[in-house]
Amino acid sequence: MRRTAILGSIFASLALLATSAIADIANTSHDLRSQTTLLTQAGNTQICAYCHTPHNASTTNSTTPLWNHQDTVATYTMYSSPSLDMTIAGSPAGVSLACLSCHDGTVAADQLINFPTGITGPDGIFFLGDSLGTDLSNDHPISLTYNATQDPDFVAAVNSQVNGLQLFGGTGDQVECGTCHSVHDNTNEPFLRMSNAGSALCLACHIK
Ligand code: HEC
Ligand code: HEC
Ligand code: HEC
Ligand code: HEC
Repeated sequence: MRRTAILGSIFASLALLATSAIADIANTSHDLRSQTTLLTQAGNTQICAYCHTPHNASTTNSTTPLWNHQDTVATYTMYSSPSLDMTIAGSPAGVSLACLSCHDGTVAADQLINFPTGITGPDGIFFLGDSLGTDLSNDHPISLTYNATQDPDFVAAVNSQVNGLQLFGGTGDQVECGTCHSVHDNTNEPFLRMSNAGSALCLACHIK
């Protein structure tokens, strides 16, 4: 009995190790090497280059580390609702803006600031199918200041996190795309910070 239990726990740990070993960006849809339509990138072996660069990174989107994707200059319609209690910004900020530089459909996925060695430049033809557009009024609010004292139906944030979900920005209280999504890890599809089975992701913040 005892031996079986020990073996069981060894197998459980091995399974955990295996899970963490595959929890990376390679071969997910954020591994843009898989996008054959990015023609000039044919032969590019660098995964990170579509979003990060070691030198001369974006200074306009400095909130996202060493950012290498050209910024979107779109104007957005933000979420609004009569029952919204917390403050939403007039336009998307920080990490959300980084996501939207591909996901609003206005900038091609290969419009980089610095191209990896040997890659000449963008085709500028690959616009995302999974695009939110510039009308964000029909999407969950983002660039929103999380403040549970303004609405009792919310879990209080502790150290810029709500049940482990990261809040962003200089004051560490902004709900952005990266709060619900982990851009490098597709273990919980589609790139979710935690499984939403039983609406667990929603209930991490909402008390309903
Ligand atoms: C599709 C775009 C994209 C690709 C590709 C990408 N990243 Fe990121 N990365 C981001 C965004 C957006 C952030 C900031 C948001 C966040 O932390 O969730 C970030 C944050 C980071 C950070 C700082 C926060 C953290 O998670 O530690 C590091 C380090 C990082 N990326 C490394 C890498 C490396 C190394 C690669 C290649 C193996 C890579 N990234 C590929 C978009 C990307
Ligand atoms: C360099 C461009 C780029 C950036 C930046 C980027 N993505 Fe993506 N994302 C893609 C591509 C390409 C796909 C594949 C879907 C498609 O082709 O439309 C994708 C797919 C997704 C999907 C859907 C996955 C699926 O299987 O349906 C999610 C969710 C997503 N991205 C979230 C994010 C978030 C959140 C950020 C910012 C933290 C981000 N992305 C930044 C290029 C990007
Ligand atoms: C409050 C949490 C939350 C925030 C904030 C959020 N998402 Fe999502 N997103 C989800 C969930 C959950 C799904 C999966 C929906 C499903 O499959 O039922 C999803 C799905 C997606 C998809 C897949 C295609 C689709 O439309 O279903 C994309 C792309 C995406 N999100 C991008 C983004 C971007 C870009 C942002 C920021 C502008 C963002 N998300 C902000 C929770 C969030
Ligand atoms: C990181 C925390 C967080 C997560 C995760 C999250 N939400 Fe929210 N949600 C918020 C905040 C904050 C608001 C704004 C509430 C306010 O100001 O009253 C909000 C607003 C909403 C609203 C609009 C409320 C209104 O009064 O207009 C709905 C509906 C909603 N969320 C549903 C969801 C669903 C469904 C999920 C899971 C897919 C989810 N949320 C995940 C934090 C979160």
